Amino acid sequence: MTEGKIGVFDSGIGGLTVLKEILRCLPYEDIIYFGDGKRTPYGGKSKETIELFALQSMKFLTDKGAKAVVIACNTVSSNAMDAIRAHYSLPVVEVISTTAKLAFSQSKNKKIGVIGTKATIESGSYEKALKSMDASVSVYQKSCPLFVPLAEEGAEWWDDEITEAVARRYFGYFDNTGIDTLILGCTHYPLLKKVIARTIGEHVNLVDSALITAKQTEKLLEESNLLKEGKKKGALEVYTSDSILRFMPMCSAILGINNLNIQKCYLGE
Ligand code: DGL
Repeated sequence: MTEGKIGVFDSGIGGLTVLKEILRCLPYEDIIYFGDGKRTPYGGKSKETIELFALQSMKFLTDKGAKAVVIACNTVSSNAMDAIRAHYSLPVVEVISTTAKLAFSQSKNKKIGVIGTKATIESGSYEKALKSMDASVSVYQKSCPLFVPLAEEGAEWWDDEITEAVARRYFGYFDNTGIDTLILGCTHYPLLKKVIARTIGEHVNLVDSALITAKQTEKLLEESNLLKEGKKKGALEVYTSDSILRFMPMCSAILGINNLNIQKCYLGE
């Protein structure tokens, strides 16, 4: 099955931050990306709904020939991994465990902040992952539900004073916690990195899922003997469940690629 594609999905544009690193690490692989623009954001939805959407995305990608799937979404990784593993036996990469490990290794004082969607924070997945490495680590979690709509609204909002005012309001929670590391526990958040870094302060190290997930994908493909043979540049197919016209400029801005092949698909209500 070394000829299959790597499937990557997210509720929208956030997973493109992960895809960008996968394209760098695995240039010879054929890749298929799905962003569920029609139903984004997932972060305020119930576990049952997130599971349903995740299984529909898995079906779409495996029907299109995925040999492995990257869940480029913390919300799905936090809420739907059991459902996905119960239905699919192909290699699946989630973003929580590797990102938590990276943050833990980089934190000196073991006081770690986590920001994410409501569904990610309420699942407690990061806290569980961090505490499983060291029960004495202090974890401070804050959901930032307005960040995803701001990121999805387009590049002019990514480094904007309104976005910064929203960040200031959320990050008041971290005052006096002494965190030295902040996990960007949503793949949309690296798009707001400048605002997040300015607001939280230079003394706090930001950790996101993009590069570590790409490296984990490469490792898993290697271990499963699924890396594509040969050195022919891989093809990239991109699908959205909403407007191609709206999706196109953001894909190009994030990936730095202009002539993208973007198609519309329909997964359900
Ligand atoms: N990018 C996603 C995540 O990492 C999903 C955000 C959302 O749809 O609310 O959680």
